[in-house]
Amino acid sequence: MRGEGNTGQWKERDVNAIVQALPVFFVAIDAEGRTLVMNRAMLQALGYTLDEVVGKDYLSTFVPEAERRMLSEVFERLVKSRKPTFNRNHVLTRDGRELLMEWHGRPMFKPSGELDYFFGVGIDVTEQRRAQEALLKAEETYRTIFETTGTATIIIEEDTTISLANAEFTRLCGYSKEEIEGKKSWTEFFVKEDLDKMIRYHHLRRTDPDAAPRNYEARLVDRKGDVRDVFITVAMIPGTRKSVASFLDITERKRMEDALRRSESKYRFLFEKSTVLNTIIDINGTILDVNSLFLEKLGYSKDEVVGKDALDFVVPEQRERVSAFLEKDFKGEYTPEIEVDIYAKDGSVRTILFSSGAALLYEKDLPTGILITGIDITDRKRAEELARSQQQQLLQADKMATLGILVSGVAHEINNPNNFIMLNAKILSRVWDDIAPILEEHYKSHGDFTLAGMLYTKAHGRIAQLIAGISEGAQRIQRIVQGLKDFARQGGGELDQSVDINEVVRSAVLIVGNLIKKSTDRFSVRYGEGLPRIKGNFQQLEQVVINLITNSCQALPDRGRGIFLSTSYDEDSESIVLEVRDEGTGISPENLKHILDPFFTTKRNSGGTGLGLSVSYRIIKDHGGDISFSSELGKGTKVTVRLPAEPPSP
Ligand SMILES: Nc1ncnc2c1ncn2[C@@H]1O[C@H](COP(=O)(O)OP(=O)(O)O)[C@@H](O)[C@H]1O
Ligand SMILES: [Mg+2]
Repeated sequence: MRGEGNTGQWKERDVNAIVQALPVFFVAIDAEGRTLVMNRAMLQALGYTLDEVVGKDYLSTFVPEAERRMLSEVFERLVKSRKPTFNRNHVLTRDGRELLMEWHGRPMFKPSGELDYFFGVGIDVTEQRRAQEALLKAEETYRTIFETTGTATIIIEEDTTISLANAEFTRLCGYSKEEIEGKKSWTEFFVKEDLDKMIRYHHLRRTDPDAAPRNYEARLVDRKGDVRDVFITVAMIPGTRKSVASFLDITERKRMEDALRRSESKYRFLFEKSTVLNTIIDINGTILDVNSLFLEKLGYSKDEVVGKDALDFVVPEQRERVSAFLEKDFKGEYTPEIEVDIYAKDGSVRTILFSSGAALLYEKDLPTGILITGIDITDRKRAEELARSQQQQLLQADKMATLGILVSGVAHEINNPNNFIMLNAKILSRVWDDIAPILEEHYKSHGDFTLAGMLYTKAHGRIAQLIAGISEGAQRIQRIVQGLKDFARQGGGELDQSVDINEVVRSAVLIVGNLIKKSTDRFSVRYGEGLPRIKGNFQQLEQVVINLITNSCQALPDRGRGIFLSTSYDEDSESIVLEVRDEGTGISPENLKHILDPFFTTKRNSGGTGLGLSVSYRIIKDHGGDISFSSELGKGTKVTVRLPAEPPSP
């Protein structure tokens, strides 16, 4: 232990040094209120040197006026009670700033008992106070936000108690703040089915905040027991075990979504199950959707169609037309119904009749697609075409039958007198041969004379011609009558021979050889090998081939154009096929309808009778066969004759 004197020394010297070194303020004031001493920390903070403050009246120099009275009372109390005090007041710096101080004051007395001086130890709490105020302000701001934000919001304690609820939340649930805050658990507000999940999230959020979802939907039950759909956002408040949850009432939105879904499924049902082909196409012509009937009819799967260009499915010849149709549809313009040939998956073509107009589909007022409906009319069209061609064949047959009867009568009537004419013309010709020298004699001895008003010298050369003309005319009549008789099946032979088509063609080519040579340098026949035979009449079939070759020869404008024949066997239809193709003038579509009619000819001025094809048609029909024409004006004509093959003999 140290001695007393030692302690006294320490007091004198070191206490002063310690006071000087303290980071807090130290000031001593005498009984008259004059400053005795200030430590370094205080001098520095106020901006004075020790000399400048010693002896100065403390209250009027260092205390703001407003606080002087209060502080002088503190001093008085100090003296009276003789006890330490605590008070808070401001001190003035040299440049007029105010520092907020917390002072611990103490009076010191002389041995006589009267006041010697006061001293105070003070802490500058200006910054602390400022921070506190800022904090308060921030809290106020957040509280305001919490209160006035449009969303129902609550603060949740770890034990699920709601410690704060804003006005919006009280509106949502129907309870007042007083009823909720600190009293209710959030778990009282949700339907049983949602609770398990939500409580799991509550705890998960406090152990692993990232693992719990920030947002989810749940069903809130309000005071009246009504259930509302809410969209919840939850987050932990940093540094606490509390969370903030906000609730968006989405009941209406959900109701609308449900309604939308219901109506959507209604329309999908109509789209899918309708008995027409439904297609939705977007503004670029891409297929967005098709229904199952569409897929069924055309044999595609959905992903072979959706996303593809609609025009890819249309036969190339029609693409331009269809594209114009779609364009009009998109503009909302009227489009009449349209038949479109569409490729099916198997490569076949089906005809779809698309209805007039299209339904525009909108998204936010902008047209995004069109719904086009169609029906598959392929089978109907085929049936119609078949009926039409059958009808035509019937008509043709009917015409032929009537004409046949008529013609056979007329032919007979004409034939007899025409035979006289031919016979008589021959006799006349011979008579003239005998008369001519006699007349010549007469002319030589008696000079010129007249015959039917013509001078003999002029007439005698022409009489032979006149007689020959009668003969030729009669022969032409005979040819026509023969044609008519053939046509009417007068004098036609039996159809019981076994005929080789190649022999028929060879024989016919031989007969019209001269005409062929006159007409073209390019004539060829491709004879099919090993062809079955035909049951029928050689001569009649030869007549057909002659007629066809003759027509082709007559159609050639120059010798450069060719004629090509071929014979073959078609296994599918078990028939012999004869093709006569020429590079002639072709037949106009208008004429094509009539070429089988008897007496239809475009060659009347050059001796055509118009019977060639009608006779040929008749013969082919008698053989159970068929004839068809395809022709293009200026390019040529192809005639195809099909005759049933004879079943192979056993
Ligand atoms: N190969 C062909 N090329 C062009 N026209 C043809 C051909 N075959 C037939 N025709 C047309 O058909 C018509 C009728 O033919 P057809 O019955 O043989 O009578 P004709 O030959 O006596 O005129 C012909 O006048 C001609 O206009
Ligand atoms: Mg002819």
